[in-house]
Amino acid sequence: MIILGIETSCDETAVAIIEADAKDNLQPIKILVSEISSQVALHAPYGGVVPRIAKFAHEEQLPLLIDQALTAAKVTWEQVNLLAVTTGPGLAPALSVGFNYGRQQAEQRNIPLVGVNHIEGHIYSPWLDADTANKLNQLAWPILILVISGGHTQLVLMTGFGDYQILGRTLDDAVGESFDKVAKMLGLGYPGGPAVSQAARQGQISAFHFPRPLMRELNYDFSYAGLKTSVLYTLRGQNTGRINDGAVKEYSQNYINDICASFEAAAIEVLVTKTVRAITAFQPRAVTVVGGVSANQYLRQQLISAAPETVPLIFPALAWTGDNAAMIAVAGWQRFLSQKYLPLAQVDIKARWPISEIF
Ligand code: KG4
Ligand code: ZN
Repeated sequence: MIILGIETSCDETAVAIIEADAKDNLQPIKILVSEISSQVALHAPYGGVVPRIAKFAHEEQLPLLIDQALTAAKVTWEQVNLLAVTTGPGLAPALSVGFNYGRQQAEQRNIPLVGVNHIEGHIYSPWLDADTANKLNQLAWPILILVISGGHTQLVLMTGFGDYQILGRTLDDAVGESFDKVAKMLGLGYPGGPAVSQAARQGQISAFHFPRPLMRELNYDFSYAGLKTSVLYTLRGQNTGRINDGAVKEYSQNYINDICASFEAAAIEVLVTKTVRAITAFQPRAVTVVGGVSANQYLRQQLISAAPETVPLIFPALAWTGDNAAMIAVAGWQRFLSQKYLPLAQVDIKARWPISEIF
């Protein structure tokens, strides 16, 4: 069957067309096309996503991207068997663009539509690559999942397709958000994760000691607001350069590198410590790490060296770590196969939507 996925929950307009088995959820899928139109340049001057701009850009880009995707995949609307559309969590004005478009097509063309949870989409990202999908399909449940993105930081126990228990989550900022905010303070641009981790490669992790919030607490919750503030106070105390436009100081490259390395070490140590603790407590058959921050190489190395060798550690291919619509199509396909989705008349967008409450 042919599934068309639509993702507009944040600052990427994404469309994908995949081909998958109509009955068997362990059969490999074929990604015919995955198109992403990033709004990064539009939001960069503001140092974060501006909902009004995101909505406008999604409205402009989505119809174009769908036409492009259909043409590239050599698929006609008549051949599309299922629409999978992100309906939450995310920015409501952005979500509504994808959902309204999908609903209109579904009604007009009589195609079933599954409203997909964005986090569940990320959870399926390792199934987008034949290599990692084959590994996962040979394993038994449960799988422990570390979800780390710009909007989410969670440890989740997956006991079957679509069955999730949230072990813990961030009480305030998400880890990706803290990378973005530190980048903004240092004038490294938006989104900040890749820039911070690149600068960190040249810095000393022991140059500054930043806090590891909640690391010693025996739960699976996270907190990143205090770490970000601690970096801010360190920067304020440091008179390393001239004032730039009265706002962002110009720091020396060495100083930036050291701040980034010390911040990254603190942010990642908490993730690794809690994940290893959850492995010990829940004895999963595998661990996956998903979401934009799973691209971070330091995190990958640290987790590989800290986790017990007996538990396979699976990371999505780098191309699938960030937001995309192929992961939304796969999640929608899974929901469709298991018939665990709402009829179109009951589907609506949800800015807040924990994965434990999908259906
Ligand atoms: O999953 P994603 O594309 O969007 C959300 O669902 O939020 O994640 C984006 C986040 C951003 O905060 C970005 O700075 C972060 O992932 N990120 C990274 C890296 N690459 C992207 N953070 C740390 N290290 C990276 N290499
Ligand atoms: Zn995401």
